[in-house]
Amino acid sequence: MTEISEALTAKIKAVKQILTDIVANYNPATLASSYGAEDMVLMDLICKFAPEIEIFSLDTGRLPQESYDVMQDVKAHYNRAVKVYFPETSDVEAYVIQQGPNAFYDSVALRKQCCGIRKVEPLKRALTGKKAWLTGMRRSQAVTRSELPVSEYDEDHSLQKFSPLTDWSNGDVWAYIKAFDVPYNKLHDQGYASIGCAPCTRAVTAGEDIRAGRWWWEDPENKECGLHVKSSTLEK
Ligand code: ADX
Ligand code: SF4
Repeated sequence: MTEISEALTAKIKAVKQILTDIVANYNPATLASSYGAEDMVLMDLICKFAPEIEIFSLDTGRLPQESYDVMQDVKAHYNRAVKVYFPETSDVEAYVIQQGPNAFYDSVALRKQCCGIRKVEPLKRALTGKKAWLTGMRRSQAVTRSELPVSEYDEDHSLQKFSPLTDWSNGDVWAYIKAFDVPYNKLHDQGYASIGCAPCTRAVTAGEDIRAGRWWWEDPENKECGLHVKSSTLEK
């Protein structure tokens, strides 16, 4: 087993405390998991120390095969249910008929519309009736996340939002995964730092930003799919 540093041990302890508080004060709560590296750390801690917290994933219909492979591995490893939400069939059909299957490359607006149908609307359904949701976001992932709080009220969905790994580094995440033998998406071994839908994600080269491989044809300021964008910050 890889050694865990004292600093990381303290961070793990802090996350366990957050999970305990969520179970005590925000039941029912749910983890949004894309099965990316950070979400796997949270999934591992939840399965071991806070199994009351539910876990769900949004299946956009455009995920890479490797993401389905890790979902299958997770099923065998943890033997617990992960809920899955698909987009509304009629919305996907209308988008593809009107704009085409790969229209997200044509403009930011069409890209955001696709994310809206395939991720944002299903997220609303996934959070209905919940008191809190958890995400694997970290501050150092992107310019858009540099001031991310551990806990904040999510007005758009009317519940508390927790990002327990805000102060974790990429190295912390991978040290945890290796030390505790956590299943992970094998695309990470091929240079994929952040993983989303297959047509909108590619590997990054050494020194490139972690999210440089997501919607690589857009400006860094645009690179949020809408799952984490507050409506109060959108241009009217
Ligand atoms: S994204 O919003 O641009 O896709 P990213 O891939 O960095 O962001 O993921 C950030 C967090 O959003 C993840 O840690 C996870 O909590 C949630 N998330 C992203 N994609 C999904 C998905 N397909 N299903 C469930 N949760 C997701
Ligand atoms: Fe559509 Fe790409 Fe957004 Fe996935 S990431 S929902 S394919 S635009």
